[in-house]
Amino acid sequence: MLGDRVQPPAEHRPQVEALENGTRLRLSHVHRVFESAAEGRIEAVAGVTLAIEAGECVALLGPSGSGKSTLLRLVAGLDRPDSGSVELDDRDPARAPRSAIGFVFQDAHLLPWRDVLGNVELPLELLGWRVEERRDAAREAIARVGLGDAIRRSPAQLSGGMRMRVSLARALVIRPRLLLLDEPFAALDFQTKLVIESDTARLVRSQHRSVLLITHDIEEAVSLSDRVIVLSRRPTRVRSVYDVELGADRTDMMAARDSHSFTDYVRSIWRDLEVGRT
Ligand SMILES: Nc1ncnc2c1ncn2[C@@H]1O[C@H](COP(=O)(O)OP(=O)(O)OP(=O)(O)O)[C@@H](O)[C@H]1O
Ligand SMILES: [Mg+2]
Repeated sequence: MLGDRVQPPAEHRPQVEALENGTRLRLSHVHRVFESAAEGRIEAVAGVTLAIEAGECVALLGPSGSGKSTLLRLVAGLDRPDSGSVELDDRDPARAPRSAIGFVFQDAHLLPWRDVLGNVELPLELLGWRVEERRDAAREAIARVGLGDAIRRSPAQLSGGMRMRVSLARALVIRPRLLLLDEPFAALDFQTKLVIESDTARLVRSQHRSVLLITHDIEEAVSLSDRVIVLSRRPTRVRSVYDVELGADRTDMMAARDSHSFTDYVRSIWRDLEVGRT
């Protein structure tokens, strides 16, 4: 541990952390086309340009099948654009350290033969953490998503919402600098959703992490994010961008919903998505 002597003065620490902890993401004119035997050429992404600064939370909203998950896979370095570029802190995301990106996939993707603790521990195991340390960190992450009582259950014994929470704990346990969330809260009931959204917001905002969230839920996008990006139908393009300023505590999802401009954002974005359907 660092002694007080070598730490920056307290008043400088938040800024130092912000610079160290978040990632800067740049997508520039990204195109992705799939070839499939059944359907031929599927143009999924058609020239998407967007940026996320360190410590920002950005939501992507768009119609089903428009190319949102494809975009997230490109950001994670799991897929390559056909043209254009994706850069994480000016580097290829496929070369980012394992602990840089946390990914909550649209399906929970849990290992069926491992219990909840074993699943959440896995990324720390791959990072070479010692047994006791990774157990402690995993237990804490599991408690945070409200699954402390289910720690020894296998995925088959969990509800869809519980599996999603395990997936979220597994992504958060490595304290990633960039958190990629593909509709992580969709299967949760409203109350649990608000609690977990607030908890996620607190975690990422207190540690200045960057977040890219895909959601179909306009209220969730507005309450959680600094910016909402509305995407068009496939092939997807950026349709509009909203900078969200609510003047509320951004870690309290109820306070965000109560702020007087909340409904205006929701209405405008709703209209944008409606127009996109015609
Ligand atoms: N590996 C692939 N091979 C062929 N086609 C693909 C592949 N991955 C995605 N697609 C196609 O690309 C399009 C966009 O898919 P994607 O999963 O990105 O959509 P999405 O916006 O995440 O949809 P949803 O909101 O339903 O999750 C779809 O038509 C899909 O069938
Ligand atoms: Mg998807």
